Amino acid sequence: YEIYLNGMTGAVPRLPTDLTLLEEVTEQRLGTGPVGYVAGSAGNGRTAHANRAALDRLRIVPRVLRDISKRDLSVEVLGARLPAPFALAPVGVLSIMHPGAEPAAARAAAAQGVPFILSSASSTPMEKVAEAMGDSERWFQLYWPKDRDVTLSFLSRAKKCGFSALFVTLDTPLLAWRPRDLDQAYLPFLHGVGTANYFTDPAFQAGLAKPVHEDLNAAVLHWVQMFSDPSKTWPDLAFLRENWDGPIVLKGIQHPDDARRAADFGVDGIVVSNHGGRQVNGAIGSADALPGVVEAVGDRLTVLFDSGIRTGDDIFKALALGARAVLLGRPYAYGLGLDGQAGVEHVIRCLLAEFDLTLALSGHSTPGELTPDALAPI
Ligand code: FNR
Repeated sequence: YEIYLNGMTGAVPRLPTDLTLLEEVTEQRLGTGPVGYVAGSAGNGRTAHANRAALDRLRIVPRVLRDISKRDLSVEVLGARLPAPFALAPVGVLSIMHPGAEPAAARAAAAQGVPFILSSASSTPMEKVAEAMGDSERWFQLYWPKDRDVTLSFLSRAKKCGFSALFVTLDTPLLAWRPRDLDQAYLPFLHGVGTANYFTDPAFQAGLAKPVHEDLNAAVLHWVQMFSDPSKTWPDLAFLRENWDGPIVLKGIQHPDDARRAADFGVDGIVVSNHGGRQVNGAIGSADALPGVVEAVGDRLTVLFDSGIRTGDDIFKALALGARAVLLGRPYAYGLGLDGQAGVEHVIRCLLAEFDLTLALSGHSTPGELTPDALAPI
């Protein structure tokens, strides 16, 4: 009701409360350059479209006359009690959207009590972002570097910064064919953006002939070689397990057999995600992949979900299909671009308020009550 009460003095929200409008508003206000990098997808956008279509196809069947006066959105994820089944997904290079970049987004998450997953490809070194994170849960996303020493250095820095869980992204061994970036010949990393964790890393620096500030081009080329290792396979995961004592979550799982392998290996969780449709064009919508994965490993692993979440009912649907919590990508990057920390807080608050109302108006009081029965059969 806060928005309506403020409205009695004539104030209206600075940003739309329908978060599906944010992309258009951001392009209008900030132009299409860096926004194109955020909004863009792989190929001609078929997977990004499939992500939306998969969620849109699902239908909630509301129930009535159930006491929904007291509601509790909190859930337990990876040993932490979260205020809602929600976290900010790792999104790299946030400085292209706003100079406040990752620390501003992290402060917004902390102010709202939701976890922030810091990307390996952040524009700000992890130590600086950690300072902005307050008491909220902090998780670190690893783009698994080719070099073992750099990997070990990232893990030990992340540990020192208080990151409790490690999200290992597996769907990006190579960067996909992304026409919006190709047409602009624009890749932020080649301008030294999104490389802060690497350029400040002693193990990374050890591989350079000259300091980063003396030869940026050489540092960028070293980054290109270091960024990922497309030859990695399942047994390589043992190295991470040996060197990280907290929860490990594999991000970018879509196939039930991969989910089973993850469970057999002994990780703690997975994110059913296709990177917001930014990697494989023509792939299955992430919400279409979710039920098969939940059936395969739902009783063995914490299953998280992302790719396409834009509204409160999307969260409801993902949870009803068996996800424990969802991650949000692009919309918070738009919020950041439009209004810095306040913009990210606006996005978090709108989404969670809408989820709370969807839950209640459909006759439920907690996320734990949601099962596929809450949806119409398809
Ligand atoms: C991403 N994503 C991502 N994932 C990751 O593991 N590490 C990263 O550095 C990034 N960087 C990144 C940058 C940008 C601009 C976008 C849009 C996305 C993927 C992200 O974590 C998440 O999986 C998707 O964004 C979820 O889809 P939606 O919510 O954007 O539809």
